[in-house]
Amino acid sequence: MLRGGDLMYLVILGPPGAGKGTQAKFLSEKLNIPHISTGDIFREAIREKTPLGVKANRYIEKGELVPDEVTVGMIKERIGREDCQKGFLLDGFPRTVAQAEALEKILKEKGLSLDGVIALYVPDEVILERLTFRRSCPQCGRVYHLKYNPPLKEGVCDKCGIPLVHREDDKEEVIMNRLKVYYEKTNPLIDFYKKRGILIEIDGRGAIEEIAKSILEVLGKG
Ligand code: AP5
Repeated sequence: MLRGGDLMYLVILGPPGAGKGTQAKFLSEKLNIPHISTGDIFREAIREKTPLGVKANRYIEKGELVPDEVTVGMIKERIGREDCQKGFLLDGFPRTVAQAEALEKILKEKGLSLDGVIALYVPDEVILERLTFRRSCPQCGRVYHLKYNPPLKEGVCDKCGIPLVHREDDKEEVIMNRLKVYYEKTNPLIDFYKKRGILIEIDGRGAIEEIAKSILEVLGKG
């Protein structure tokens, strides 16, 4: 299915809490390509109170999407950097058909196209449990789950040693809206990429390591 070779331009897609960030961190290390998460970029901007952060937070705290023109401009700048010349793994982008079309255009201008879009499937009830028990490091962004992937020392990041936080948008009412927005605006991308023949469908339930293994197998890197 994939073109093969060492360059890999990939997207990981799925509902909130599907495990995109968890899998992307592992895959980017294994494939030696940068992991670019629009959610992480926005959260860093929010922490630093930059104009982008202030603007993005108005949408994120309600579980709405940040407008396409803001997000597309940000991604265009990010994938134009040197480290993306050998590939990338986009996590959380694209999230609308307009963003997917913009990405195609940006890549086409560079003579590139996506190699694969990994779609993680996870039912809503599993998502709710994953997000309610998720904790993350405000410094390095590392993600834990209190039951399935706990830190070595309770409440503290293994890497940075600082207290973990529960994301503001992981409150139940915001999660419900994020899910609604996902099915309305992002789910159509499944068909969009299926038509292009680059969709890689993965069952996102089960052990983190098993899911990672199945993705690598499909990518021909297992
Ligand atoms: P973003 O940060 O991208 O949020 P999301 O898509 O809702 O995804 P999450 O980060 O919540 O979940 P995930 O799939 O990465 O799961 P994780 O690996 O953490 O975006 C946040 C917001 O920014 C958006 O709502 C929007 O407002 C804005 N935004 C971002 N991009 C945008 C764009 N392109 N356009 C417009 N707006 C944009 O896993 C979840 C939990 O489950 C963790 O605790 C983890 O340890 C655990 N876990 C993972 N895998 C497993 C497993 N197999 N078994 C058990 N537990 C597991």
